[in-house]
Amino acid sequence: MHHIILIGPPGAGKGTQATKLVEQRRMVQLSTGDMLRQAAKSGSELGIEVAKIMESGAFVSDDIVTALIEERLSSGDQMHGGFIFDGYPRTLAQADSLSRLMESVKTHLDGVIELVVDPEVLFERITGRLSCPNCGAVYHRSANPPDKEDICDSCGHKGLVQREDDTEAALRTRLLEYYRKTSPLTGYYFRSQQLYQIDANGTPAEVAEGVLSIFNNFAS
Ligand code: AP5
Repeated sequence: MHHIILIGPPGAGKGTQATKLVEQRRMVQLSTGDMLRQAAKSGSELGIEVAKIMESGAFVSDDIVTALIEERLSSGDQMHGGFIFDGYPRTLAQADSLSRLMESVKTHLDGVIELVVDPEVLFERITGRLSCPNCGAVYHRSANPPDKEDICDSCGHKGLVQREDDTEAALRTRLLEYYRKTSPLTGYYFRSQQLYQIDANGTPAEVAEGVLSIFNNFAS
């Protein structure tokens, strides 16, 4: 069983690669973006606050995010083939919290995989993304369209949508947040010798091959 972090800017393909690992290695995906979108949908006071922040492209506070992860890790959730942290941690404070949390459940991270993508490719991926509002499956208008136009391959729902934070203005804020607050994490994990970087400009299948080859480096 392995626990990994997928790190990379918006549109790097974290969710796409996490979905493949769930299918191929029976790992459990922990996406703070998905958890926060679910909280936003709930309509609670906290949810309304979270929705506003996400729509702007800014980061939600470390306290809220850490509480969500703590709740999930302590819920007795079966680990199956291990956890994939997708979009978490995103700040140095979150990385410290995760390290303490892993220690408290007597486990450790096997590696941190950074998906490195050129900025112009990120814009193309984000502005072309479509999601299923029913099951959350993710598509791309040209790179990964559904088999039947506007119909989700996974659940058959009709009507794929663009995410509210996939506008050019919000994307600019998301990228700024990433470069200011998240990119220092590569130094953090390089220091602990847990960082693996891969060129993620290729097709989803090419990137998946790179991700899987990293697993061969992990102690079994
Ligand atoms: P989150 O949902 O995590 O968004 P993100 O990090 O901006 O990442 P994305 O989901 O946009 O991209 P991705 O890398 O998963 O790419 P994907 O596979 O979908 O977070 C959203 C917001 O929540 C944040 O802005 C923040 O407000 C808040 N938040 C979340 N976590 C937080 C935290 N820990 N702390 C504080 N705030 C937090 O791919 C994108 C598109 O490209 C898709 O259309 C896909 O089909 C396509 N694609 C993927 N790979 C390829 C490829 N290789 N070639 C061609 N197309 C591809």
